Amino acid sequence: RDFGTPAARSEKMITLTVDGFEVSVPEGTSVMRAASEAGISVPKLCATDMLDAFGSCRLCLVEIEGRAGTPASCTTPVAPGMVVHTQTGKLKDLRKGVMELYISDHPLDCLTCAANGDCELQDMAGAVGLREVRYEAVDTHFRARNAGGDVNPLWLAKDESNPYFTYDPSKCIVCSRCVRACEEVQGTFALTIEGRGFDSRVSAGMMSDTFLSSDCVSCGACVQACPTATLQEKSVIETGTPERAVVTTCAYCGVGCS
Ligand code: FES
Repeated sequence: RDFGTPAARSEKMITLTVDGFEVSVPEGTSVMRAASEAGISVPKLCATDMLDAFGSCRLCLVEIEGRAGTPASCTTPVAPGMVVHTQTGKLKDLRKGVMELYISDHPLDCLTCAANGDCELQDMAGAVGLREVRYEAVDTHFRARNAGGDVNPLWLAKDESNPYFTYDPSKCIVCSRCVRACEEVQGTFALTIEGRGFDSRVSAGMMSDTFLSSDCVSCGACVQACPTATLQEKSVIETGTPERAVVTTCAYCGVGCS
C-alpha cells in the first residue's frame, strides 16, 4: 500500500476529518498520508512513501475548511480538528487541467512504450478522468525546440550510455523524484535539474556528461523512483515488465535491487 509520503515519528496523535472520515495520525503527518490512512487515495505524481515531500506536480491539491486556496496535500501537515475535502468539483477540474498540461507535452506512444501498464502518468490521467487534451499536439517540447535549432542537441538526446538503464528526456515530467532518490536514498548527489520551464531537464552533471561518465553509481534508485519511462531498465525494454519481482538488499547501497 502506498501512503504517499514518509511516516511521521511523533507519539503525539492528531485527529482530523478527511472527506467525512475521522482519522488520527502522528503529529507531522502530511494531509496526503492521513487521507491514505483513512482509505482515501489522493492523485499524486511527485510524492512517494520513500522520499521527503516536494510539492512540485500540483496534482494532490485539497481544500481545507477555513483555509484559503488549494494547498498540496503532500506538503501540508495535519492540524487538530482540520476538515479536509479531497474530491470537490473544483479540485477535480484543477487536477484534470494539470494533467492535461502534462499530457500535452508528453509523447503519445503509450501502446509501444516499455512502461505501458506500469506508468504512473498513465494511471493518474485515468484517475482524474482525462479523456482528451484541448491543446494542440506539437510533439514534445524537446523535439519542438530542437526543430527550432536553438537548443544543444546533447540536451535533447536519449542517453543509453549506462549498461543498465536508459534516460529519455522527452518523457520527463520534471517531478525530480530521481534527483531526490539519488540524494535521499543513495546519498550520491549525481543528478540535478538544469534549466527552467520547457528547457528544464534532469542532468547527470554538466551538459555534455552522460550517465556513464557522471558520478552515478548505477544503484538504480532513480529508475525505481521514476513515474514514467524516462528512466527505464534496459532489461524491461528488451523483455517487458516481469510478472514477479523480488527485492534484495545488500550492504553496498541499501537501495534494494529488484
Ligand atoms: Fe503533492 Fe506532487 S504529490 S504536489
